Amino acid sequence: AAMTIDGKRQKAISDKLVGVFFEDISYAADGGLYAEMVQNRDFEYTSADRREWGAATAWRSSGGDIRIMTDGPLSKNNPHYAVLTADTLYNSGWDGMRIERGAKYDFSFRVRNIGGQAKRFTVALVDGGRVIASARIDTKGAGEEWHRYDAVLEASESAEKAELMIVPEKGNEAAVDMISLFPQDTFNGHKNGLRKDLAQVIADLHPKFVRFPGGCMSHGDGLGNIYHWHHTVGPLEDRVPDRNIWNYHQTRGLGFYEYFQFCEDMNAEPLPVLAAGVPCQNSGPDEDGYGGQQGGIPMDEMQAYIQEMLDLIEWANGDPATSKWAKMRAEAGHPAPFNLKYIGIGNEDIISTTFEERCLMICKAIKERYPDIVVCGTVGPFHYPSSDYVEGWKFAKDNKEVFDMVDEHYYESVGWFLNNQTYYDNYDRKGPKVYLGEYAARQGKGNIDCALAEAVHLCNIERNADVVAMTSYAPLLSKNGHSNWSPDMIYFDNKGVDRTPSYETQRLFSTYSGNQYVVSTMAIDSVAGHRVATSVVRDSRTGQAFLKIANVLPVELTVTVDAKSLPIANVVRYEGYSGKPGQTRVSVERGTYTKSADGKLTVTLPPYAFRVVML
Ligand code: AHR
Repeated sequence: AAMTIDGKRQKAISDKLVGVFFEDISYAADGGLYAEMVQNRDFEYTSADRREWGAATAWRSSGGDIRIMTDGPLSKNNPHYAVLTADTLYNSGWDGMRIERGAKYDFSFRVRNIGGQAKRFTVALVDGGRVIASARIDTKGAGEEWHRYDAVLEASESAEKAELMIVPEKGNEAAVDMISLFPQDTFNGHKNGLRKDLAQVIADLHPKFVRFPGGCMSHGDGLGNIYHWHHTVGPLEDRVPDRNIWNYHQTRGLGFYEYFQFCEDMNAEPLPVLAAGVPCQNSGPDEDGYGGQQGGIPMDEMQAYIQEMLDLIEWANGDPATSKWAKMRAEAGHPAPFNLKYIGIGNEDIISTTFEERCLMICKAIKERYPDIVVCGTVGPFHYPSSDYVEGWKFAKDNKEVFDMVDEHYYESVGWFLNNQTYYDNYDRKGPKVYLGEYAARQGKGNIDCALAEAVHLCNIERNADVVAMTSYAPLLSKNGHSNWSPDMIYFDNKGVDRTPSYETQRLFSTYSGNQYVVSTMAIDSVAGHRVATSVVRDSRTGQAFLKIANVLPVELTVTVDAKSLPIANVVRYEGYSGKPGQTRVSVERGTYTKSADGKLTVTLPPYAFRVVML
């Protein structure tokens, strides 16, 4: 095939095109990215989280039953705690605790002595009965006061499935709560931090933004399960835990402060997406389970809900001297503003009147008070020609003054992506921009076919990145054995992290991105062309241009590149991957191409390959 790149024909495109979608699904947060090693640290699991769960889940006692009490709690938001007398308490962590020899772990708990005498504890890590780290803690006081105690546990041995053990001395009773264990070595060393290896793999994507906390987690499956951001900030014991729509529990230890901090660490824009005043598909569980219709937040409660959204912007960007919300942010350790620029309202909701009324009330209020904040709406869970999508776009365009952008979602077959390469070519350039907030090619647990289909789609999106401003593959994380969805971009367990071929597609597009699209034409047989996609972008700030080629053909592809008015070095580097159909993991391949004497560049790709060439 012959390709001509016309360096003189360039258009401005989004420089925030590839970001990440973070949702606490498949144990992405608790038991995943959030580095807390104690499961159910606050004894707040309930059967509403999961039928077989309760306050003692993940705990066991040498004496049998664990005494759970609620009077005189540490916080009204965390009413349950355990009372220990002489029996030893164990926590099994998340599928066991993985301990590394020589590593240090921060243990902490809250204790209220009952019965007039201070209690002494031994806290330890045990592996099959063998103690591999331990510390002594002497508590003080008696009666009504809760106190915090800390100890550092240094492991003398490694273990795959250790337990935390708390041994009380005989005699008095003591109430214990918020029993916590963190590795000292977290991502960027933050306390209450993130698991280092997992966070690093996400950071290696160089995401331009992070969307959080969902997905369906944002709007919940009933009015009582809508995510309220302010329930997730402040002291850990005061945060409001909740049922996770994905059939487990949210501690909210990974809350808005931690999300914003992670964005800052990665130099990514925060993109919080919150409910549009309606739960998932405007409904919620009825007494028998699913199927109830609760509609939206009652109108007389909407002002309070709108205020929550405004408070978020104050919390993120306000001045601690004048705003109580900004003061809270400062007290948590971040006096400087987080510089929030985007907010999403709604997550693939049914475009009903209930939704439209509430969504508009919220977005108008945000735009009125903060005209510079980019407000992103939603057009339902499907692409064209679904009626929700059509109705959602009409609603967004009719209210163009409030919707700067709309969130599209679609999970499709590999074939759909190959057959819809012109999908965005005719999008209205005068309407709201597109945030493709959730998409993936679906085939089993993902493979190179999916990754190549997504690369094809992203090449076509780069061509349309004057109207498509942001994209994020979904979902991002899935813990082995706890999956709610398939495929996912990154699989992990306590031991390691596994990058899928789709991860490499995202990483390559995000790392080698630009703010200018350079027009190119390709002379290729039309049947073959159907399984090939290319794109050239340039970063005007560095002058660097990138040529991307996806070859989904079963044969090698050779492209002779003639780059008019675009300087190309004599030897250029490439990075990419290749493989066989169905292959579930790929290796990153790097190499060089050399220009020929006539100034052209011959780029050869193996079958089923994607490469970025650094022009
Ligand atoms: O990404 C998984 C789920 O897919 C999201 O929670 C939801 O928005 C969509 O249906």
